[in-house]
Amino acid sequence: MQKKLVAPSLLASDFANLQRDIEMVNQSDADWFHLDIMDGVFVPNISFGMPVVQAMAKHAQKPLDVHLMIVDPDRYIKTFAKLGVHHLSVHYEACPHLHRTLQAIKAEGMKAGVALNPHTPVSLLEDIIQDIDIVIVMSVNPGFGGQSFIENTYQKVKDLKALIERKNSNALIEIDGGVNDANAKKLVDAGADILVAGSFVFKSENPTQTIKRLKEKIA
Ligand code: DX5
Ligand code: ZN
Repeated sequence: MQKKLVAPSLLASDFANLQRDIEMVNQSDADWFHLDIMDGVFVPNISFGMPVVQAMAKHAQKPLDVHLMIVDPDRYIKTFAKLGVHHLSVHYEACPHLHRTLQAIKAEGMKAGVALNPHTPVSLLEDIIQDIDIVIVMSVNPGFGGQSFIENTYQKVKDLKALIERKNSNALIEIDGGVNDANAKKLVDAGADILVAGSFVFKSENPTQTIKRLKEKIA
């Protein structure tokens, strides 16, 4: 069985102490760095852009999992590849030519991910699931950290898992938003492979310990 992974979201880190927080993740049991890119158009918030990703990449010693919450993501695929990004995810709702976008991401040597807003049904992936490396199931409306988890996510993960198996896809299921130690195990039991955690990790008293506890919960 696929090992279950934890990806702390740097959106919730202290941007004035970014290097310190990245080193913490490097030394922790975490598996990936989750980087949230927001453009203020697809989502009502702006996070950070290329110079910050470049600075993060310089210190990060684990794979960079980039979640693009932007319109027209095709424009930036090559740039993210050059920055050393490992997984690049785009939003289903932002890509009218999703198949082409995924091929372009893979052509740059990155894993290709698709994120689904809470209202977007997994059945829409029926004809593309075999081309996807990672599906990000949004368990909050994208745009902000620290929101509460949407309960419908469990059923959505089960439906997605069934679709992946039925279609013989190798896609991994990543959950993003409101993840904590109260829902982690239930998500993994439903079929999740990767849990993103922002506030739960970085706003805790001892982030290293919180990551360790989360990993133990889903081991
Ligand atoms: C939300 C982002 C998430 C966010 C999660 O739009 O995609 O990755 O950082 O933050 P928490 O874990 O605080 O909900
Ligand atoms: Zn995210």
